[in-house]
Amino acid sequence: MISGLAHIAIVVPDLSKAAYLYKNIFGAEISDQLDLPEHGVSIIKVNLPGCLIELLHPLGPQSPIQKFLDKNPDGGMHHLCFNVNDLSIIKNATQDKIRYLNGGNPKIGMEGKPVLFIHPKDMCGTLVELEEH
Ligand code: CO
Repeated sequence: MISGLAHIAIVVPDLSKAAYLYKNIFGAEISDQLDLPEHGVSIIKVNLPGCLIELLHPLGPQSPIQKFLDKNPDGGMHHLCFNVNDLSIIKNATQDKIRYLNGGNPKIGMEGKPVLFIHPKDMCGTLVELEEH
């Protein structure tokens, strides 16, 4: 079963502006910008006790979040990520009708840990990422 919320990913049209808002309105602790070309994103992390918010902006022409930003030009919540102890336990425990992206094959996520995404149509419209800890 899931053991907590790992992060919330928010796609933003302007990373500096988003970071400014989180820092200055909420007083949150934010990271420097990190460019992750292997994931097609630039990221600024907002560190909250017990949870992380990832502010994401497309990087490069093949960015997996470009379509989302095209559809949502003001930005918006992209996915939730839950901690799990073992991705295979979730896979085995889940009944059919739940589709995983990437053919159900885990890949290494932005935090350097194995992740798996569940199709948003099978999770009430929300893209859900599972991250193994
Ligand atoms: Co994520």
